Amino acid sequence: MSDIAKLQIGDKSYELPLIKGTENEVAIDIKSLRGSTNGIITLDPGFKNTGSCESAITFLDGEKGILRYRGYPIEQLAENASFLEVSYALIFGDLPTKEQLDKFHADIKEMSVVDDDVKKILDAFPKSAHPMGILSSLTSALTAFNPSSVNTDSEEQVYKAVVKIMGKFPVLVAYTMRKKLGLPLNYGSTSLGYVDNMLKMMFEKPNEDYSINPVIKNALDKLLILHADHEQNCSTSTVRIAGSSHVGLFASLSTGISALWGPLHGGANQAVLEMLEAIKEDGGDTKKYMAKAKDKSDPFRLMGFGHRVYKNFDPRAKIIKKAADEVLTQLGVEDPILEIAKGLEKEALSDPYFVERKLYPNVDFYSGIIYRAMGIPVEMFTVMFALGRLPGWIAQWKEMRSRKEPIGRPRQIYIGENERPFVTIDKR
Ligand code: SDX
Repeated sequence: MSDIAKLQIGDKSYELPLIKGTENEVAIDIKSLRGSTNGIITLDPGFKNTGSCESAITFLDGEKGILRYRGYPIEQLAENASFLEVSYALIFGDLPTKEQLDKFHADIKEMSVVDDDVKKILDAFPKSAHPMGILSSLTSALTAFNPSSVNTDSEEQVYKAVVKIMGKFPVLVAYTMRKKLGLPLNYGSTSLGYVDNMLKMMFEKPNEDYSINPVIKNALDKLLILHADHEQNCSTSTVRIAGSSHVGLFASLSTGISALWGPLHGGANQAVLEMLEAIKEDGGDTKKYMAKAKDKSDPFRLMGFGHRVYKNFDPRAKIIKKAADEVLTQLGVEDPILEIAKGLEKEALSDPYFVERKLYPNVDFYSGIIYRAMGIPVEMFTVMFALGRLPGWIAQWKEMRSRKEPIGRPRQIYIGENERPFVTIDKR
């Protein structure tokens, strides 16, 4: 294949360079398009055909159901790694040695206390507030308590910002959950592992010694790994474009949390459980909901199905589905919702509407079933997604700043009124 693309507009022809990635993906480099064609641009709502950047963090192939973080296959990471190891690999490029991991964890523990005044912000929220709105606000508020801006040319300052947020974010997550459950805020213990301590901070009751259930700890570790990054998805693109204005890491992360909240994105895991509950209340009538999902006049979509990139199975969904079976069995939990989910999946995978549109279960379809079995409230499901996605957002923000990418500022095609004179109000 030649390394140029030829474009014919009217009687003029243009040549644009082709670029190829390390996995042989090809893009037309249009950086020179507008300048060389006297103002012609491309238009691609939702960026279905447009790359925003070159990235070395995550590779996925939607047709083949491949997902790798820094080249490591997701199946091998989910099976063999810890969430902290995967976080290190995403942020710094390679799986850590034992010494690197121990130092990373020690540095994170140093930073895993938040200013007690953050509780005043938390107290100001009504109990009915959605945890994602609280988490986004508290994350942005961290800037107020850590005002020093980060010189992204300094590896040391960037590393310090990374361990700061890796230490403080789980505390904010636990705060949002304990507010929802009406439990006093607590800190867990630095004697514990990274994920073990998350569980203690979230679940420990004031009147009992909390003991870590290894089944729950391993399930959470795996779920966080599966959510850790996913190249240029909606919330990650939001973190990158916000960060491209050179606003700080915490503020950029706060924008990503808000984007993830949407039911078409990370909010889907909560919407899936609510949908499955509705089906259960409806006597398990999955056919009615399948019909609603196919009815163009009905805004209802089958939550947890479909994906912008995976036009085959989502490799994460396969792993989570297997884990859901294992966790519920190990915990001795009988959840009729799991059977409804499996029935819905079976029906959808044989329904022409879904097959033609290549709509398969995605990462959100089964994850809520495990969170529920772990005792996590449904409104906290997307917060758990954000907890997993944190290292991916950090890695993507760090890459964007280190590559000195320009401020994100898309063009548009104007379709409004042509020039017209002002008319005074008495004449309108
Ligand atoms: C995540 O991007 C990422 O990587 C995201 C994520 C990550 O890790 O960051 O993987 C996490 O967000 C997973 C997706 C979670 N969202 C949901 O489960 C919500 C339900 N899914 C849909 O809303 C939808 O599938 C999207 C938003 C996920 C993808 O939408 P697209 O790519 O814009 O596809 P589309 O809306 O153009 O749909 C194509 C067709 C349409 O029908 P036609 O117009 O061709 O007739 O498929 C239909 C859609 O109506 N369709 C669905 C459907 N999803 C798509 N119909 C019914 N139910 C659905 N779930």
